[in-house]
Amino acid sequence: MKGIILAGGAGSRLFPLTLVASKQLQPVYDKPMVYYPLTTLIESGIREFCLISTPQDLPRFRQLLGDGSAWGLSIEYREQPRPQGIAQAFLIADTFIGSDAVTLILGDNVFYGGDGFSRAFAEFKGGATIFGYHVNDPERYGVVEFDGNGQAISIQEKPRQPRSNYAVPGLYVYDNNVVAITRGLKPSARGELEITDVNVEYLRRGQLRVYRLGRGFAWLDAGTSSSLHEASAYVQTIEKRAGIKIGCPEEAAFHRGFLSLARLEALTAKMPNCEYRDYLAEVVAEAKRLGAVEAQGPAAGVETR
Ligand code: TTP
Repeated sequence: MKGIILAGGAGSRLFPLTLVASKQLQPVYDKPMVYYPLTTLIESGIREFCLISTPQDLPRFRQLLGDGSAWGLSIEYREQPRPQGIAQAFLIADTFIGSDAVTLILGDNVFYGGDGFSRAFAEFKGGATIFGYHVNDPERYGVVEFDGNGQAISIQEKPRQPRSNYAVPGLYVYDNNVVAITRGLKPSARGELEITDVNVEYLRRGQLRVYRLGRGFAWLDAGTSSSLHEASAYVQTIEKRAGIKIGCPEEAAFHRGFLSLARLEALTAKMPNCEYRDYLAEVVAEAKRLGAVEAQGPAAGVETR
């Protein structure tokens, strides 16, 4: 499974913040926004990435994330000269996708909690998998309608009169047919290759799975000044209360086994003195403590607690 992070667009609703820095580089509490979707995909086991952004912003992302090797990942970059639709990502990244399946995540979507994604990834066999999340304002999104058996029966892009409160969040999983399906699409009235049209085609073929994300799950999109602020406040609240970080790619790469403990420790040592470094140093210390307990064997482990 490969991963595409789509981080272009105009970001006009965040003007003037986006005059000199792209939306997905803005801070969500204590990290750049793009760290969150990147971490979500790492947690799902994805290691090979293609980040798509505008020609102006791409160099900044490269500066931030490099080729990914420091975190045990590989990250390629591609330009989207104009925002001509989310689905255009599959055409821009067709050589990156090759013959694989692919997950696309939007660079301004923040997810937290639940095991909805891991289950969906584990169960993915082909076709398309998308999600439905109950929101107050479905008309801003793609909206999915379910029948009495929980089967998706329609998807509409930004409908005036939504048929349900279930919006489709910006994480989509497709088999390799997505490239050919996108090639067959015509731009919509607003001149974009619509991701909803891709999903509608999979639905027509009987190959679309829609998982409903439950109450224990948070989906925030950070595209307006107030939703950006809310996302920051949310992350701060959880991080402060639980003493964990959301959207920490180094930690996720370590937990997934992409990054060894020794490399995580070396990375942390190179960071300036800051809270982020203190946090990762604690992740390292905790892993060493647990490692020591494991090395002593289970009985000894119980005793040392
Ligand atoms: P939007 O938030 O719908 O659009 P935008 O980022 O251009 O913002 P605004 O409406 O304020 O001008 O896009 C959702 C996400 O998808 C966002 O992360 C940007 C990305 N995107 C692209 O990278 N390319 C595109 O062609 C489109 C339509 C969106």
